[in-house]
Amino acid sequence: MVTAVAQRLAAQRREINDTLARLSLSSENLQQVKDKMRVELERGLRKDSHSTASVKMLPSFVYRTPNGTERGKYLALDLGGTNFRVLVVKIRSGIRKSVRMYNKIYAIPLEIMQGTGEELFDHIVQCISDFLDYMGMKNTRLPLGFTFSFPCRQTGIDKGSLVSWTKGFKATDCEGNDVVEMLREAIKRRNEFDLDIVAVVNDTVGTMMTCAYEDPKCEIGLIAGTGSNVCYMEEMRNIEMVEGDEGQMCVNTEWGGFGENDCIEDIRTRFDREVDEGSLNNGKQRFEKMTSGMYLGEIVRQILIDLTRRGLLFRVPVPNREVQSCINDHVVQKLSDRLALLQVRAILQQLGLDSTCDDSIIVKEVCGTVSRRAAQLCGAGMAAIVDKIRENRGRNQMNITVGVDGTLYKLHPHFSRILKDTVKALAPQCDVEFVLSEDGSGKGAALITAVIDKYLYAMRLSDETLMDIMKRFRRELGNGLCSDTNPTATVKMLPTFVRSIPDGSEKGDFIALDLGGSAFRILRVKVSHEKKQTVQMESQIYDTPEDIIHGSGTRLFDHVAECLGDFMEKQNIKDKKLSVGFTFSFPCAQTKLNESYLLTWTKRFKASGVEGMDIVTLLNKAIKKRGVDIMAVVNDTVGTMMTCGFDDQRCEVGIIIGTGTNACYMEELRHIDLVEGDEGRMCINTEWGAFGDDGMLEDIRTEFDREIDRGSLNPGKQLFEKMVSGMYIGELVRLILVKMAKEGFLFEGRITPELLTKGKFETKHVSSIEKSKEGLTKAKDILGRLGMEPSADDCIAVQHICTIVSHRSANLIAATLGGILSRLKDNKGNPRLRTTVGIDGSLYKMHPQYARRLHKTVRRLVPESDVRFLLSESGSSKGAAMVTAVAYRLADHTPTPSCKSKHPMSMRDST
Ligand code: G6P
Ligand code: G6P
Ligand code: BGC
Ligand code: BGC
Repeated sequence: MVTAVAQRLAAQRREINDTLARLSLSSENLQQVKDKMRVELERGLRKDSHSTASVKMLPSFVYRTPNGTERGKYLALDLGGTNFRVLVVKIRSGIRKSVRMYNKIYAIPLEIMQGTGEELFDHIVQCISDFLDYMGMKNTRLPLGFTFSFPCRQTGIDKGSLVSWTKGFKATDCEGNDVVEMLREAIKRRNEFDLDIVAVVNDTVGTMMTCAYEDPKCEIGLIAGTGSNVCYMEEMRNIEMVEGDEGQMCVNTEWGGFGENDCIEDIRTRFDREVDEGSLNNGKQRFEKMTSGMYLGEIVRQILIDLTRRGLLFRVPVPNREVQSCINDHVVQKLSDRLALLQVRAILQQLGLDSTCDDSIIVKEVCGTVSRRAAQLCGAGMAAIVDKIRENRGRNQMNITVGVDGTLYKLHPHFSRILKDTVKALAPQCDVEFVLSEDGSGKGAALITAVIDKYLYAMRLSDETLMDIMKRFRRELGNGLCSDTNPTATVKMLPTFVRSIPDGSEKGDFIALDLGGSAFRILRVKVSHEKKQTVQMESQIYDTPEDIIHGSGTRLFDHVAECLGDFMEKQNIKDKKLSVGFTFSFPCAQTKLNESYLLTWTKRFKASGVEGMDIVTLLNKAIKKRGVDIMAVVNDTVGTMMTCGFDDQRCEVGIIIGTGTNACYMEELRHIDLVEGDEGRMCINTEWGAFGDDGMLEDIRTEFDREIDRGSLNPGKQLFEKMVSGMYIGELVRLILVKMAKEGFLFEGRITPELLTKGKFETKHVSSIEKSKEGLTKAKDILGRLGMEPSADDCIAVQHICTIVSHRSANLIAATLGGILSRLKDNKGNPRLRTTVGIDGSLYKMHPQYARRLHKTVRRLVPESDVRFLLSESGSSKGAAMVTAVAYRLADHTPTPSCKSKHPMSMRDST
């Protein structure tokens, strides 16, 4: 009897051992797994075998690990692991190098994980919205890094189409679509905030970056969690799916798919097949289903069901399926630990499984076996990876670090030890260190965003910074107006002697000269006044060759006079005595409407012997006997304000965003120390282009701004203008492209002599590249004309750079304009300001997004205002003619003014 029982027990034991033996891998088995993995790695990398390889080796477009110089504030999303997280990551560089993170975990209910794609992304955006509210950051448009822990075919750092869902996700209409686009669309649908999605990153890549930030030897990222995967730094020359041979790129192996082509059927058991069949993605991710946390419990459960059915386990009572489904990875982890049998029984008891001592031993053995196999398989895979890297580098021996994350690695009592032992045994020539990622891969995603953003981060200005700049500028306005501080003020606040906008009574036949913008124009402006005031204009553009604008002043004014002669002849008005209004778009100290001393040349002009001189005298000298009378000199901003004021009586600000930049506005005379009188208002030409010439903007100027300044005609001057205006934007972009190419981030490091030539990349190019539809094709054309052969990703990057540079310009102008608007509001003493701003200039007019961005930021910075932006359709000359008309009338009807009077001929004294 006893022997019969003993024999039956022994037979049962053998059966159990046989069952488990199929899950125990010999060292030969493991060596074979390593070798097969190596074959698949190579097949995934090669073009001809990529489509059939089970390990997809997806390019990540991450070319380097962080080097500690990254900084900035970023938003990160982390989707696909146990938790969905939204984070803010603040990165500091230099001696205060640090990373600070704030995050919130959000639930993704099962019905959303497996609902529609739209629902899933709407849910994600809702969580972001909640997080931004929670952090009080709704209005700060931060760059975002998106950790998306699923296989994505990337064509750039911010483009990735989902290959297939894995783990517990199965939302419809996502596979094959770009996840960044889906996120952007969901943000648009919500229409509540704006984000700049800079990078999409696999969790392995994020983890590698997180760890590499601390340890530069870290060139591999491993996830052993819900899912299983590895990435590592591969040589570009080996990645046939991406063009270029120089340097390295991180490859997301997606090794979870290993075996999908049946290459490991010899070690897969019927339990693995059952798990596979019951999964959301039958036939897929076979290696993952043998190695990752999501499936370990399921394998164990399948074995326990089988043993129970065969009468080898849990004889009384037979547990039902529901109870068995309590066995998940946590249970496996717990039961894999060194526990006394009583403890094992207690755990099983909690799950409703009544076990004998024998049962406990068996369950524990099953858990141990299944997890041991998982760790060994990961180890074998890792051995293939490290040996591959070692051989890439032609080394006999190599030290390398693996950054690891994932619940299985972190929580399982033996997983990490078995993994390490296996790697050691199978890759003896590599000394592999495993470093746990403490902060998750969100930090890495932010670091990637920062690596890309390194050159540009300083150009993204938060509303906080813009507010601060607005305040500084307002202080400057005050300093320029006050006689004590004016001599040292950078913003010169020049009186224009224009005291009001047109009132509709102006009339006459005038000539307008318009010098200083991108074109030199001469016009005839006829303002008639029958029933309604109408303006008729005819104009001609004249060349201003470089040798003339950089030659002697006499020659320049002779040229202007010659062109005028030509114009008058063509117009048949040689013998007419017409009044001339002169739009002269440079900073001038005026003592009256027709006396105007050039303070300094700006932009492209540098003719000698003009600075400090009255330009009316110089022009009169050149014109000699031509019988015209220069009645008024106006700055282009003033001309623009007057042109717009003709149509809209509320216009009291004029700005130019063209070759140069500047603004004028109507100031209360009582605040203008430099002009006598306290009644009424006068237009002030701020000359805001010089803002920052005293170092006031050093904190926001970048190395590129300094380089522009050094190479300019007027170093140290017009520093604000050099950050924002059309003459410099293209050049700023060019300098950034050159620098990024030199560091291997663009164009595979290639730079042509044309790209290295100053001025070859123009602001009009920036405008075409930023066009939403044809921008990328334009980028390819424009760079092609510079001898470059940009890849699709280069074009995207170039477009991104253009956007950042032009957006900064619009933001900075919004800040200075905000300063003027808030001053106007205070001058009027009203709680709300209603006003019109007249605008002109090629950058504002030609750039597809500039105007919208400017208007939007102004509204945010000065919320207590209703501003109408009015484009000056006919240039500043129409306005100049209006000023001339009044000057003419005053000169005709008033006694010749005394020269001592401070403003003898100012336009229409409003007394
Ligand atoms: C990291 C990442 C997650 C990732 C996870 C894997 O912490 O931030 O995005 O998916 O590790 O771990 P889990 O065990 O949660 O799947
Ligand atoms: C207006 C004026 C020019 C002015 C220009 C600025 O059209 O008539 O005198 O300088 O705008 O624009 P730009 O882009 O040509 O510098
Ligand atoms: C995904 C990988 C991911 C891994 C770990 C797998 O299911 O395919 O992209 O890295 O899980 O989260
Ligand atoms: C000049 C201003 C002018 C502006 C726009 C600047 O360089 O200093 O006087 O208004 O360009 O043309």
